[in-house]
Amino acid sequence: MQHRITIEGSAQAFVSHSGQSALDAMVGRPSALEVGCRSGGCGVCRVEVLSGSFARGEMSAEQISAECRSRGIALACRVFPNSDLHLRPLGKRVGKGCTPNADVAELLRSLTRIARCGDHRSEPGACT
Ligand code: FES
Repeated sequence: MQHRITIEGSAQAFVSHSGQSALDAMVGRPSALEVGCRSGGCGVCRVEVLSGSFARGEMSAEQISAECRSRGIALACRVFPNSDLHLRPLGKRVGKGCTPNADVAELLRSLTRIARCGDHRSEPGACT
C-alpha cells in the first residue's frame, strides 16, 4: 500500500511504500528533512505529525520523550505511515510544548543562571 507524505511549507510530495519509513520515502530526493543514522538514535529527522496515522518503530528516549510522543512528535526514520501524512520538520529543535531532554533542560537552567547572576557557577536561588 502506498501513502502520500507532504511537508509543511513545501510543495513536494513523497510516496511511501508498504513497510517503508517516512524518511526512507524521501531519501535520494531533496527534502526539508535531514538524514542521519536512520535508526531512531540521532534526532536529526524529528518531525511533528500534523495529520495522518502511523506506527512507531523503536526510537531513542533521549530524542523523543514521553511528552513529545503524546504530542505527535516522532523521528521520521521510525515513522511507518498507515495513511497519508502531513509533517512539520523540527530537526534537532524541540517541538512546541515538548519538554527538552535532560541535557537541553540543564543547558537552559545554566543559561538562565548566567542571565540572572552573570556567573554560570552560581547555584539556583543564590542571586536574585
Ligand atoms: S536519522 Fe537519526 S533519528 Fe532519524
